[in-house]
Amino acid sequence: MKIFAIESSCDDTAAAVVEDGRKVLSSVVASQVFRHVEFGGVVPEIAGRMHCEAISGVVAEALAQAKLNIQDVDAVAVTAYPGLIGSLLVGVNFAKGLALTAGKPLVPVHHLRGHIAANYISHPELQPPFLCLVVSGGHSHIVEVSDYTSMRIIGRTRDDAAGEAFDKTARTMGLPYPGGVHMDKLAEGGDPNAFSFPVPKVSGSPYDFSFSGLKTAVINTIHNMTQKGIDIPREDMAASVRQSVVNILTDRFLLAAKDFGHRRLVLAGGVSANSLLRRRMTQLCAERGFELYYPELSLCGDNAAMIGAQGYFEFLQGNTADMSLNARAERSIEL
Ligand code: KG4
Ligand code: ZN
Repeated sequence: MKIFAIESSCDDTAAAVVEDGRKVLSSVVASQVFRHVEFGGVVPEIAGRMHCEAISGVVAEALAQAKLNIQDVDAVAVTAYPGLIGSLLVGVNFAKGLALTAGKPLVPVHHLRGHIAANYISHPELQPPFLCLVVSGGHSHIVEVSDYTSMRIIGRTRDDAAGEAFDKTARTMGLPYPGGVHMDKLAEGGDPNAFSFPVPKVSGSPYDFSFSGLKTAVINTIHNMTQKGIDIPREDMAASVRQSVVNILTDRFLLAAKDFGHRRLVLAGGVSANSLLRRRMTQLCAERGFELYYPELSLCGDNAAMIGAQGYFEFLQGNTADMSLNARAERSIEL
């Protein structure tokens, strides 16, 4: 079964064709980062306009690369939530038009479910149940995936998402947007123990994260050193910040795995590209005899192939929509 998929929830306009939820027949991503970088973050108004300009070309290219016509696919899947509303609306309306004119079923997909499904492409043998750490620019969750379309949130961030924590601290260090990947590269050459930042105390759930304390500590350290005229050892700072974020994530994730009895662990979302997170989880899972999965690097960030993968499983489950489908800026992954 072939699913045509569209993704436009943030600053990437993407389209793809995916077969049976696992095999990518084509995948096209038009990034807008070059436009947002001068503002240090995504400007929603610009993002929506750029999706409008790019989407028809991206859709045509994805069909051409797969050597298919829209009539050849079985359904049209689209990211309908969560995300920037002006961005989501472009993809949702384009998908509705395609589905209507081609007479195909329309399948709304939750963006974070798509990030999880990137793993089904990278690991064709992977099946639920598993415990997933979903870490993106806008969300950080520990999710129990009991089936392809059945999920429960075990832990969540109380403030910033993991990606935001990287991006905001990177910004204070003068790194370009999006800071996570630049911080990761810089950190490779630094001493992760050069600076120690406070470990957050989160009352209530032991599986919840908090990154605001880390962010404040980093900003204060940088300001103090700048005031005293001390040069910031940028590589050491990046390595220390990265280690703190990764420690917070892995501690909570492994505690949840132990308490909920999961031995198959999965990483998903833009931050799953982080090299220390991948290395540390590989080591910790090997020590415990756990299975670990994470997507290939090209599927960690936003793309439409992951939406086509999840769209397949949603379609099998009968989760289609009619022409009244609307985009939503917020919606839980539990649906
Ligand atoms: O999932 P994603 O592409 O978009 C959202 O759905 O939000 O995630 C983007 C986030 C950004 O915050 C970016 O800085 C972060 O993922 N990111 C990384 C790395 N690559 C991307 N963070 C840390 N290390 C990386 N290598
Ligand atoms: Zn994303």
